[in-house]
Parts: sequence; C-alpha cells; structure tokens
Amino acid sequence: MRSVMRVAVWLFLVVEQVLTAQIPLSPDYHEESLDFYSHFERDPRQWDLDEPHAVNTTGNLVFETANSLLQHWANTRYRIGHTIVPGIVPVGTILYHGALSSPHIPTVPDWVAVEPEHSMIFCSGTAETGCWHATFAVTRPMKVLYFDGSSAAKIAGGTMDTQDLVAWSEMRPEWVGDEEQRIQDLCKWGLKNGVNGLVRFVLF
Ligand SMILES: *[C@@H]1O[C@H](CO)[C@@H](O)[C@H](O)[C@H]1NC(C)=O
Repeated sequence: MRSVMRVAVWLFLVVEQVLTAQIPLSPDYHEESLDFYSHFERDPRQWDLDEPHAVNTTGNLVFETANSLLQHWANTRYRIGHTIVPGIVPVGTILYHGALSSPHIPTVPDWVAVEPEHSMIFCSGTAETGCWHATFAVTRPMKVLYFDGSSAAKIAGGTMDTQDLVAWSEMRPEWVGDEEQRIQDLCKWGLKNGVNGLVRFVLF
C-alpha cells in the first residue's frame, strides 16, 4: 500500500505545524468568547447569509474540504490534494488485491483496493496460470494516512505533491511515475511513526 505510507509522512509534518501554531488561551478566554458572540447577537446583519464572502476568505474551503473527503467527484474535479488525514481501517474491513500470478500473498509493499471491481482490473494471468484475486480481512485496527485529491493519479500537475513532501520533504514532479521509490520512502517514514498503510484515491 504505497499511497498509505506517503500519507503517513505528510500527516506528521502537518501535525507538527499545527502544534507549533497553537497559542495558549488567555485566562479571560471564556469572557472573550462570550463577548464575541454577543457582538453577533447585537448586530444581526453579521448573519446575512445572502452576502457573498470576502474574496480572499478561505474558511469556507476548509469546511468544503472536510465535507469532500473520500468522495468521488469532489476529489476528481479538484484533483490536486492538500489534506492529509489520519484514520483507522476497522477490524473486519475486507480488502482486495489482483494481479497475483501465483497463489501467494504479496511479500513486499503493495496495494489493496476497497472494492473488488477496482482490484480485478489488475487481475491478469496467462491461460495456463489463470488469475489470482486475493481477499484480505483486517484483523487489527489499521492506522492509515489518507491523501485527498486524486492522489493515486500519476499525472503531471500536483496530484502527488503531498506524498512527495512526506517522502522527500520536497516536491519531485520528475519522479511522478516512480512508485517504487515513493513506496520505499513512505514505508520508511510509516514504520518509524507507527503507520500501517497509506490511502489514495483515483477515478476509474
Ligand atoms: C486578496 O489577496 C490578494 C493577493 O494577496 C491581494 O492582492 C488582494 O488585495 C486581496 N483582496 C482583498 C479584498 O483583501
């Protein structure tokens, strides 16, 4: 699961940044908060929802991103991801892998799909060997990092940027197709940080 590992690295950096950006609350926090809301109550025009937001406002985008995670079209149309989300794949989840040329599970980092319709596309084999399609069940809560956007689309333009930053601390667009190196380096980071897998998305 290459994608999952990269996500793990990125998340760590983001968490670090968020933690360092924390500002201690002042002792007057509650009082200040109440003042803040009473200001809105005194001035109902603040709640005019027909009024367009300011041109450089970004808060709406943050909520839109959270609302779109793991959704098909939102992450296809806006395919350059920018969010890294930690998650747990629960016990009992069924995952699939195609492309096996013999009845053995992969012994190196590899991918699994959440839908058999996805993994079967990669199922190949000669008429003699047939195609092996493996089904796995998660037996321990699996810690993952999820990269939003079309993060499994190996195309130019930035879909891999967040993974690059986790793996290499810089964007390497010239390595967009180098999944082997990417998974190796994401796995290194993941092993150090207790991440079991990386989650990516691509439209099929
Ligand atoms: C929005 O951001 C741009 C780029 O930083 C800036 O030039 C512009 O003045 C901003 N507009 C407003 C209304 O703040």
